[in-house]
Amino acid sequence: MPLPTLYVSRLLTDPVMTAIRTRFTLLSEPTPQAPSHDSLIDGLREAEAAIVTLTETITGDVLRTCRRLKVLANHAVGFNNIDLAAAKAAGIVVTNTPDVLTEATADLTWALLLAVARRVTEGHRLVQDDRWTGWEPTQLLGADVAGRTLGIVGMGRIGQAVARRAAGFAMPVLYASRHEVPFPSATQAWTRASLDELLDRSDFVSLHVPLTPDTHHLIGRTAFEAMRQTAIFLNTSRGPVVDEAALAEALQHGLIAGAGLDVYEQEPRIHPSLLGLPQVVTLPHLGSATQATRDRMGFMCVDNVSAVLEGRPVAHRVA
Ligand code: DGY
Repeated sequence: MPLPTLYVSRLLTDPVMTAIRTRFTLLSEPTPQAPSHDSLIDGLREAEAAIVTLTETITGDVLRTCRRLKVLANHAVGFNNIDLAAAKAAGIVVTNTPDVLTEATADLTWALLLAVARRVTEGHRLVQDDRWTGWEPTQLLGADVAGRTLGIVGMGRIGQAVARRAAGFAMPVLYASRHEVPFPSATQAWTRASLDELLDRSDFVSLHVPLTPDTHHLIGRTAFEAMRQTAIFLNTSRGPVVDEAALAEALQHGLIAGAGLDVYEQEPRIHPSLLGLPQVVTLPHLGSATQATRDRMGFMCVDNVSAVLEGRPVAHRVA
């Protein structure tokens, strides 16, 4: 029996590509780089199934022309890059990769939190550039982390994983969420707060909401004005949840003390004023970038595609 045809928009990890090659006929050889618009459209139109990543924007206009496509497996937990209503109308199942990247993304959020608070990248540069002349009592003084308040905006899987890690730092956790979230243990208390209250009372504000029309620019000038001047802001969710120009202004004018960013409004472009600010740590969207996590995400996509093509129940269906 011929193998089903699959379009893969970008090269995934070796174990995942090996599994793909044994189970599907690949329509074209993916590379690590984003496909051209034309090759993306050709792939989606010709294939029975596709695995795409968060950087491929898949509009209703494209989906309406994909007559053979049965399933679109998004290699991400977020799915703001796909027009779900159009996929549904076209009878195309859309899946995502929840859970498997929760811990890796929470770890990276903490890497940013600690890096900004303790000026890790500034210290690294000082040593690497051979500018360090020795220990000084007032050199690169940062902010305390332990015992300070962590505010989490969006208390889904990743928000909760970030909050759990705060127990090790004896940090009270405030969270803003549409739903009450139970405490994970008797030793850690999380307090639900309004967004305004959270912004006012938190030393660290970390964003973990999905990008939807409701959350677009959720954090802008007013939010930065409401934060403490000593606050450190973290975003490992989606760039457009933040008004990046307002963030740059807030940092330049000292409305907040620092920022740790993994995502941007128009990736890979970054607001020019965010570059070169010593109190800002910028990463290239690495939230889920561990070997094991990317393997799990890829295998989950493969399983989702196979389930749809074989008519089995689909565990991670979003449309
Ligand atoms: C996601 O899955 O949404 C992440 O941003 C991928 O790294």
